[in-house]
Amino acid sequence: MNIKITKAETLKAKPADEENLGFGKYYTDHMFMMDWSVDEGWHNAQIIPYGPIPMDPASMVLHYAQETFEGLKAYRNGDDILIFRPEMNALRMQKSNERLCMAEVPEEIFVEAVEELVRYEKDWIPTSEGTSLYIRPFCFATEAAVGVHPATSYKFMVILSPVGQYYPEGVNPVKIFVEDEYVRAVVGGTGFAKCGGNYAASIIGQVKAQDAGYTQVLWLDGVHRKYVEEVGTMNVMFVVDGEILTPPLEGSVLPGITRDSCIRILRDWGYTVKETHIDINDLMEWTKTGKLQEAFGTGTAAVISPIGELNYKGNEQIINNFKTGPITHKLYETLTGIQWGNLEDPYGWVR
Ligand code: COI
Repeated sequence: MNIKITKAETLKAKPADEENLGFGKYYTDHMFMMDWSVDEGWHNAQIIPYGPIPMDPASMVLHYAQETFEGLKAYRNGDDILIFRPEMNALRMQKSNERLCMAEVPEEIFVEAVEELVRYEKDWIPTSEGTSLYIRPFCFATEAAVGVHPATSYKFMVILSPVGQYYPEGVNPVKIFVEDEYVRAVVGGTGFAKCGGNYAASIIGQVKAQDAGYTQVLWLDGVHRKYVEEVGTMNVMFVVDGEILTPPLEGSVLPGITRDSCIRILRDWGYTVKETHIDINDLMEWTKTGKLQEAFGTGTAAVISPIGELNYKGNEQIINNFKTGPITHKLYETLTGIQWGNLEDPYGWVR
């Protein structure tokens, strides 16, 4: 792909304190942008100064939410820049775009755009422990039309943000509120797609949980209102009597790349991992009896986030004495070790 580069006239000062990057507060000097039209397909690949983009107020994304995104991270280890499984993000974005009737971004374009922009902005990759360069590819409908139909023009963009921990708690346990009023997704809907609309629908749960003094929400299925689906923006796993249980991918749950990586590692360690429906009533009972040994979320942003407490309909149960369990801890160390290039990568995941 031929990428036209326009260098920013002035470069921004990089955040001085890597310990306080937070998540998504800073953006690098440049961004990637490319257009799609019915006549030309994908064209006009550019790396340009980071900044506002002109948009027609009738752009379809602003009205009907044809928007998909991805999240992945780059790490710097000495002279090496490492990116974790970008082809998986490319494939997932294709599935998301297919569901939303959007033009699909070919894997080669997706990966090259990510790699070229990260290489161009490599000085922005933080190096302190627990930090990384968060990569946000996204795609949206630009056609100016207020009639509902698949748009005839799209943009594919990539922006970069140096980040620290997603949750202020870091890898310490968080308190989770089980949501029994709102649902995030249903089978047949868009739950498996990484589209902005799913997150818009979920914010109310997060607000409700935080108002009640909890960090995040545990989502239940939309039909039976009892099977666990996701935790906040992450997939969720439970260690029950030495086995690992996680909800199956049946259409309402996001096929997480961290989820997939964890399942692979856990099975290699000899654990039985069951992708199965998990009834919240059983879970609360197992929490009480101690059968539930550990619980954690898996996602790109926080990597692994231990769950220390569940509140379901006012019934509060503490998990593992509100401590990070051994499997949760080992998984975090192993996955981040592979991602940083500090541990051997037997899977060929790191580029
Ligand atoms: C993740 O947990 O990796 C996410 O998708 C969070 C992101 C929406 C900020």
